[in-house]
Amino acid sequence: MADLGTAFAGLQLKNPLLTASGTCGYGRELAQLFDLSLLGGICVKGTTLEPRLGNPPPRIMETAGGLLNSVGLQNPGVEKVIEEEMPFLRQFDTAVVVNIAGHQEDDYRLLAEKLDAVPGIAALEVNISCPNVKNGGMAFGTQPETAARITSLVRRATSLPVIVKLSPNVTDICEIAKAVEAAGADAVSLINTLLGMAIDVEKQRPFLANITGGLSGPALKPVALRMVWQTYRAVSIPIIGMGGICNAKDALEFMLAGASAFQIGAAAFHNPLAAPEILAGLDQWLDGHGVAKISDIIGAAQC
Ligand code: FUM
Repeated sequence: MADLGTAFAGLQLKNPLLTASGTCGYGRELAQLFDLSLLGGICVKGTTLEPRLGNPPPRIMETAGGLLNSVGLQNPGVEKVIEEEMPFLRQFDTAVVVNIAGHQEDDYRLLAEKLDAVPGIAALEVNISCPNVKNGGMAFGTQPETAARITSLVRRATSLPVIVKLSPNVTDICEIAKAVEAAGADAVSLINTLLGMAIDVEKQRPFLANITGGLSGPALKPVALRMVWQTYRAVSIPIIGMGGICNAKDALEFMLAGASAFQIGAAAFHNPLAAPEILAGLDQWLDGHGVAKISDIIGAAQC
């Protein structure tokens, strides 16, 4: 069996597959289907200081090759996550990454301080790219200055590895990646969802109550892969790639483009066993191609 281990940003993962934030809550549903200890990591739902109910429905719809959501960061709030979700997650031998989201810049500092000493957290993923909230969210991730300011607030507030999750809804993602690298990010994850919308032709109104939403799923993959490729050339910090990964071949593309690890999201909605299947597929591909360690292929397609 090939070695699927990957090390980056001070993390040592047993394999490069993490679940993407917002696609498996805090792991309770997936844990009924397979052992979460199989995963390299689990990245939990965007967590805010206070509980949030999210946006009104309709807030999710299937599109051609994708999924449009405007969930609006529904989550129980950081205190409940620490008290109720972390004890559950600590049962598993997997890296728990807590995605943090704020409505004001200082929210990120407070969240990082609260989570810093909580046992079982491997890293923080700083969400400056959620397109579905009125205050904060993506607005923080589209300007290099704001992205850098939030990164350094988190950097100073925690000794945990800081991963900054980038938005594709920008002119130049490399500019944002360079800004957060300079501000102390240990890694970047990309991409969050692409801003989109749908219209109900019978009602002649936007389908989503929030009007716009974030597109994820296979339709996104070529865009996400291109951004991972470009970001790899622009920064020295490691990249976690995501966007439409459905199978082992998709995952390999992201790693060959330069990702040290990858996240799967929408794939698990139509195939909840996507994660174990992708891991088996990676193992098979590496064995079939005589590659002893998956880390050897990171960035190998870069010319
Ligand atoms: O609406 C949401 O909860 C999405 C969050 C995100 O894209 O980070």
